[in-house]
Amino acid sequence: MRTGVIGCGLIGSRRARWAGTDLVWVHDTCAEAGESLARECGVAALQDWRDGLERVEAIVVATPNGVAPAIVVQALERGLHVLLEKPMGRNLQEARHLAERAAVSSGVLKIGFNHRYHPAVSKAHELLAELGPVLSLRARYGHGGRPGYENEWRGNPELAGGGVLLDQGVHIADLMGWFGGPPATAYAQIRTACWPIAPLEDTAFALLTYESGALAQFHVGWTQWKNLFSLEVFAEMGSLHMEGLGGSYGPESLRCYRRRPQGGAPDEQRWDFEGPDSSWELEWRDFLGATAGQPYWGTPADGLLAMRTLEALYASAAKGLVCPVVT
Ligand SMILES: NC(=O)c1ccc[n+]([C@@H]2O[C@H](COP(=O)([O-])OP(=O)(O)OC[C@H]3O[C@@H](n4cnc5c(N)ncnc54)[C@H](O)[C@@H]3O)[C@@H](O)[C@H]2O)c1
Repeated sequence: MRTGVIGCGLIGSRRARWAGTDLVWVHDTCAEAGESLARECGVAALQDWRDGLERVEAIVVATPNGVAPAIVVQALERGLHVLLEKPMGRNLQEARHLAERAAVSSGVLKIGFNHRYHPAVSKAHELLAELGPVLSLRARYGHGGRPGYENEWRGNPELAGGGVLLDQGVHIADLMGWFGGPPATAYAQIRTACWPIAPLEDTAFALLTYESGALAQFHVGWTQWKNLFSLEVFAEMGSLHMEGLGGSYGPESLRCYRRRPQGGAPDEQRWDFEGPDSSWELEWRDFLGATAGQPYWGTPADGLLAMRTLEALYASAAKGLVCPVVT
């Protein structure tokens, strides 16, 4: 599938490498970034991405959050398939607009939620069916930020749309929706605790409730000096514990505990996933499948659910109240 990549930073470069021989061109407003990736991949570097739309069937959009939606809309209008890096716009309004445009396009819109493709996470999701209804979820996710964030797009409210609650929290909101379904209410406290990026937050604590009675809690931060990823799901018949994402987030593992009818210590099963991060490759394959009409993860509905959850959390943090997660 002939593909163009827009935005040649950390994630765009990664996506371009996985596109392999499908890659036709790349584009970045920073000519140096575009040309360097183009040289590495042996493809053209375009000065204007619009010039390349007729030569491809799909694009990957890995730009700062604030510039992505306008690009996605133009591509969808031409019937191109789009892999849009999370988040689905800067806010719920933008996410809704993208979902509407996708609904009337012959192109597929997939939101890049690579965490679902981490083997510990996808295996846990498979196992959940054996453990019965979810009772609660708990997640911690963060890194130590970066001096100078205030000068990068992530420190610019216009380009970023949110701080860590959006940037990393969108993965957690997505995973909580995937494991637990749509939440009903949201409560959050957010802080600009350390980095000079106000009004953007570098620390967030969140609490979600579900119609079923289930509860979820998470903490995301750029004040988590040692990188950490942990997601735990507690269900009626057992629990699932995902730790690490490989690399700086530590080895990836999954533990599944199953309750014993007689009580006492649960049965434990453990999986360790060593080796390189396969999530990007698996997600690329899923995107290719999606363009061939197969079901896929990261649909516009998935992206919308994560943005609805975050919108309610931001509203809660602003008002100091529990807010409904709107449908
Ligand atoms: N799935 C994940 O785990 C994950 C991780 C990091 C980032 N992301 C997402 O990927 C996207 C990019 O993040 P990143 O970390 O690669 O950022 P980055 O800063 O490394 O790269 C962004 C690139 O976009 C370029 N750019 C800026 N404005 C542009 C425009 N108008 N047109 C074309 N290019 C433009 C910049 O020059 C830069 O090279 C963001 O949406 C981010 O949320 C996802």
